[in-house]
Amino acid sequence: MKRRILNIACIGAGYVGGPTMAVIADRCPHVSVTVIDLNEARIAAWNSDTLPVYEPGLDEVIRRTRGRNLRFIPQREGAAAVAAADAVFISVNTPTKTQGAGAGKASDLGYVEACARYIAEHALGHTIVIEKSTMPVRAADTIKRILATSPRVGTFDVLSNPEFLAEGTAIRDLEKPDRVLIGGETPAAVDALAEVYAHWVPDQAILRTGLWSAELSKLAANAFLAQRVSSINAISALCEVTGAQVEEVAKVLGTDTRIGPKFLKASVGFGGSCFKKDLLSLVYLCEFYGLTEPAAYWQSVQDLNEWQKRRFAQMAATHAKKQGGVVAVLGLAFKKNTNDFRESPAIDICNYLLAAGVRLRLQDERVDPHMFGAVLVDDHKAGFDFFCEAAEAVRGADAILVLTEWDQYATLDWRKLSTVAAPGVMIFDGRTVVDPVAASAAGLPVFTVGIGAAK
Ligand code: UDX
Ligand code: UDX
Repeated sequence: MKRRILNIACIGAGYVGGPTMAVIADRCPHVSVTVIDLNEARIAAWNSDTLPVYEPGLDEVIRRTRGRNLRFIPQREGAAAVAAADAVFISVNTPTKTQGAGAGKASDLGYVEACARYIAEHALGHTIVIEKSTMPVRAADTIKRILATSPRVGTFDVLSNPEFLAEGTAIRDLEKPDRVLIGGETPAAVDALAEVYAHWVPDQAILRTGLWSAELSKLAANAFLAQRVSSINAISALCEVTGAQVEEVAKVLGTDTRIGPKFLKASVGFGGSCFKKDLLSLVYLCEFYGLTEPAAYWQSVQDLNEWQKRRFAQMAATHAKKQGGVVAVLGLAFKKNTNDFRESPAIDICNYLLAAGVRLRLQDERVDPHMFGAVLVDDHKAGFDFFCEAAEAVRGADAILVLTEWDQYATLDWRKLSTVAAPGVMIFDGRTVVDPVAASAAGLPVFTVGIGAAK
């Protein structure tokens, strides 16, 4: 039977659910979209002028859609929206398990299971349930099992439609995706979801696969991207000791069409809510199926990332401790153009420095200082303070670490900053964003990841 999706509900108003539903509502004015979340403060923020997610372009999309065919409501008011929905997206977080089988590696499906129970309880008629959150392979089995317990006479299809948006470019990625992936077993359900995306995505960019391929493709895509970052970061360390320049090497690699130019930027390590979680989930899946060598291979991508962060922190701590023991950290977000700092390299590096007894002066143009302060561990009472301006943060600093590639760090006035930093200050650029010529002209030595110390 041909199905049409005219009513959508989405559980989870986070970095993924919010922007994704906003773009669907924008491109499909005939579809009514309701986003539901347990967190009422978050829903209130989505209904205010200060959205809970910072994404370039998001404000305009929300302005066009909110109150028209897009609304945000708390979960306690969500039953009717689920009952009316032709399709319900599950877009809640799937953190790494902290206890039970697979603790430390496997993804925790607790929230997803709770969503499936909520849908089972309230859905009416035929409902297409769509995995938007990244799931381990065969998670759809779990969802189907729970839906089968529905007290109502409703029927269900389960699809996997993983998101490929990157934070900071989420709206662009959603409006012009490389591809949309829909995995499912029932062609009518797959077609119904494809018809929604077809309002703005060309048909050849809508890929249809089986459920398990779709679930695994998402994990594999993130693992491949993370693997490229770890590969270039492994090369970055070799560049620093041999005199090779990582940007030159990356350019050469990237012009080989078989390799391609993206995801070859050396850094202080990858962060974000997905790469580590998805790598560990893949490692766990391999181990679960007795695939020891593939498990070790993907684990090594994560291990290299930890090493890259640690060696950078060690270098900065050693330099700062030879002097007054004060470090300025510029950039806390896991990448530019987002307020998100989940798994940001800045967290581990700051905690390493605090444990080494270094006092921190922190600055980021978007990250909430209270929230970031809450993830720092300062058992030694080394101390940390937040500043609005980079020029304030570097005051009295013995080392300046640049950990996010915010545009403003490319044009810092190093001559002015050199007058307020401590004598003997050194810049440690973990993002190849600082202008080494300007810094050197101001008499400041710079260590750049993948390049080493400026001569
Ligand atoms: C998350 C995962 O991190 C990612 O792997 C997955 O692909 C999509 O979901 P994100 O949107 O960034 O991504 O997560 P987050 O910003 O934490 O948003 C999840 C939202 O779900 C939160 O607002 C949370 O309150 C809500 N939630 C969680 C519910 O509404 N109900 C629940 O049962 C659990
Ligand atoms: C990622 C995937 O790109 C996206 O498709 C998926 O849906 C969610 O996970 P995201 O984590 O938002 O998106 O950002 P991404 O641009 O992938 O960056 C991840 C981390 O890798 C960041 O810390 C970034 O700074 C780092 N990175 C990226 C590098 O260090 N070098 C690069 O060349 C690229």
